[in-house]
Amino acid sequence: MCGKQHTELGVERLVEKLCRKCSLSLTEYELLVAQRTPKIAQQLAARAVEVRKRVYGTKVFTRGLIEASSYCKNDCLYCGIRRSNCAARRYRLSPDEIVECANNGYELGFRTFVVQGGEDPFFTDDVLCGVVSRIREAHPDCAVTLSFGERSPQSYARLRAAGAERYLLRHETASPELYARWHPSSMSFDNRMRCLGELRAAGFAVGAGFMVGAPFQTAADLARDLKFIELFRPEMCGIGPFIPHHATPFASYPSGSVELTCYVLSIVRIVVPNVLLPATTALGTIDARGRELGILSGANVVMPNLSPVAHRKDYDLYDNKICTGEEVAECRGRLGARMLSIGYQLVVDRGDVAPLSQTNRFETREEQRHGRSI
Ligand code: 5AD
Repeated sequence: MCGKQHTELGVERLVEKLCRKCSLSLTEYELLVAQRTPKIAQQLAARAVEVRKRVYGTKVFTRGLIEASSYCKNDCLYCGIRRSNCAARRYRLSPDEIVECANNGYELGFRTFVVQGGEDPFFTDDVLCGVVSRIREAHPDCAVTLSFGERSPQSYARLRAAGAERYLLRHETASPELYARWHPSSMSFDNRMRCLGELRAAGFAVGAGFMVGAPFQTAADLARDLKFIELFRPEMCGIGPFIPHHATPFASYPSGSVELTCYVLSIVRIVVPNVLLPATTALGTIDARGRELGILSGANVVMPNLSPVAHRKDYDLYDNKICTGEEVAECRGRLGARMLSIGYQLVVDRGDVAPLSQTNRFETREEQRHGRSI
């Protein structure tokens, strides 16, 4: 048997083990990533889709994304709205404008609103709590998700009490060394991880997530992300390729690939069967069929943009971001048609995370822990 076939067999065994145990060691995750082949990727995607269909059928949940502010006090080296980018056009929506976006979205069939922004000091707890309670009062059948970065446990508790049920805070990378290369020294890996724990303690459904193919990232780093996801078990996980932004220190690095991003999506679907997994805008940006490929790799969420068209171009995290010109209705309509074309349906639904009991091949977590080992 030649070397390549030998390796492929080894990796196939890892796929089997992953599907059986929803867990691998760090070294195994690294091998699974580093030694992937197109054939393995196909097998993994088929298993991920099987899991996804068992849990969520062929439904695709939508979230209406409202980009509330492009002001940010942080200076992440990869991000186009980083503080040091003097060329960035900054805007912020007023609370009235945010509520208006949600109202429009409701008419179009959205039942979850993700209000997201840079770390903009304008959005104090009072302001955000006001926005959340107004949306919840106007649309009691909808969920509000927030994504406003690192805040205090007291702040998270207040936002939760105001009616926000979900919070997205990508961990970006689970490797402290890599985190330090992607961020200024004023930002701390430990604090980011602490925030994720505090969000959970405050009672949020928590979204973690990471970039794929960003500068200096290796298979060993991705293995750490996968291990982190396995252990933390976030309710949501946002995974997108890195895409350079021309006015950042990472301008000259290449984009992450659709292929590796989809591969990682498949692994995450198998590791956390009921995770809410978006086919991200970044994935749709690096490939015209990126979001379809994401769904066909195990993703089950899409997040069309509800922000006013006038500001869309200015929420400029990376170059060539898609959907910056389309009206919302148009965007949702087209996306719906694209999903139908691959056998999936956009649904009008809050799209809560499915309870674990109905999702796992093992009856209980207990049984899973003591489950068959190889
Ligand atoms: N490429 C891809 N994703 C990016 N993000 C920020 N900048 C980039 C980029 N250049 C992602 C980060 C952040 C989210 C809001 O957008 O993961 O958490």
